[in-house]
Amino acid sequence: MDLISLADYEKAARDKLSVELWDFIAGGVGREVSLRRNCAAFDDFPLVPRFLVEVSERSTSTTVLGTQVSFPVMTAPAGTQGRVYPDGDLAVTRAVGSAGTIAVVTIAAEYSLEHVADIASGPLWFQLFHYGDDLTSELVSRAEAAGYAAVCIAVDTVAGSPKDRDLHNRYVANRGRAFASLAGRPEATVFTQRRPDVFAWSDLDRLVSMTQLPIVIKGIMSPADAVLAAEHGAAGIVVSNHGARSRDGTLSTIEALPAIADAAGDRVELFLDSGVRRGIDVVRALALGARAVLIGRPVFWGLAVDGERGVRAVLDILRDEFDLAMASCGKTSPSELSTEVLAV
Ligand SMILES: Cc1cc2nc3c(=O)[nH]c(=O)nc-3n(C[C@H](O)[C@H](O)[C@H](O)COP(=O)(O)O)c2cc1C
Repeated sequence: MDLISLADYEKAARDKLSVELWDFIAGGVGREVSLRRNCAAFDDFPLVPRFLVEVSERSTSTTVLGTQVSFPVMTAPAGTQGRVYPDGDLAVTRAVGSAGTIAVVTIAAEYSLEHVADIASGPLWFQLFHYGDDLTSELVSRAEAAGYAAVCIAVDTVAGSPKDRDLHNRYVANRGRAFASLAGRPEATVFTQRRPDVFAWSDLDRLVSMTQLPIVIKGIMSPADAVLAAEHGAAGIVVSNHGARSRDGTLSTIEALPAIADAAGDRVELFLDSGVRRGIDVVRALALGARAVLIGRPVFWGLAVDGERGVRAVLDILRDEFDLAMASCGKTSPSELSTEVLAV
């Protein structure tokens, strides 16, 4: 089968992976209403094509927190890439570097944050969960020393979130594996089993004051939290429901974005993930106030099909689709996108 779209990669990846691994990656919590809604709700924001304007000279490039990227798509932090393809975390990092954009490296990677930075050919963000003040401070200092461009804290995993599919399959994430960035610490394996501590606004104040790096808060779904994040010094927010892996019954992120952009879009850079599958979705997110989007599951699809090359292909497809969708709206660069290109 020709692999033309991300949906083709999804089908091909499913054929390659065990049911347990596929379900772990693909699934969402509860009845998976938010999982479906994440993708479906993009269709509630129809685009308005424009003609008779000159769009032959275009650029997809933009900046995120001051870093130049070749197009406004980054890869989301995601554990388990090493189970899908040997050295998956490194393959993803290489593919993203060659595509000229940013990989957000998870604390759950099978290689330490320093190792991933060593093999990277482009800028990286480091994503962590808060397991306590000392460890967070240590990780942020290490990320700064290793040359990461930003620190991203995922704040939306405060409670356990077993997925029905994983319970049926008796799938245990991280079984027998430690977070490599914690290697050498006696707690290393314990952390893979433990829920993050609550990361409070006062913790954000402390973090902002201890590092030069911009802090990005991942997992914001409410305008009130977006305002607080800005007030407490966050440089960026990822509007995310964790790909519907943490809770069900929420808005999709594209539905949540407009109110968040109204409340805080002029004070922090906004990013969005969860459900982005086509270039037109990227256009919609940017039109509604996002600076860039992140993709989670599609990276796994590319990785499962063809490792680094597969991830690169997924990124290339999205870039080309985004470029054409932008042109269809009569626009020649990401900065020209606004609600004007949407019919609602
Ligand atoms: C298998 C898997 C593992 C993930 N691991 C992490 C993680 O370690 N840290 C994190 O912040 N988000 C994690 N996520 C969530 C992603 O960063 C992202 O929010 C989500 O996948 C976006 O939705 P999408 O998959 O629909 O693109 C994970 C997602 C998947 C599918």
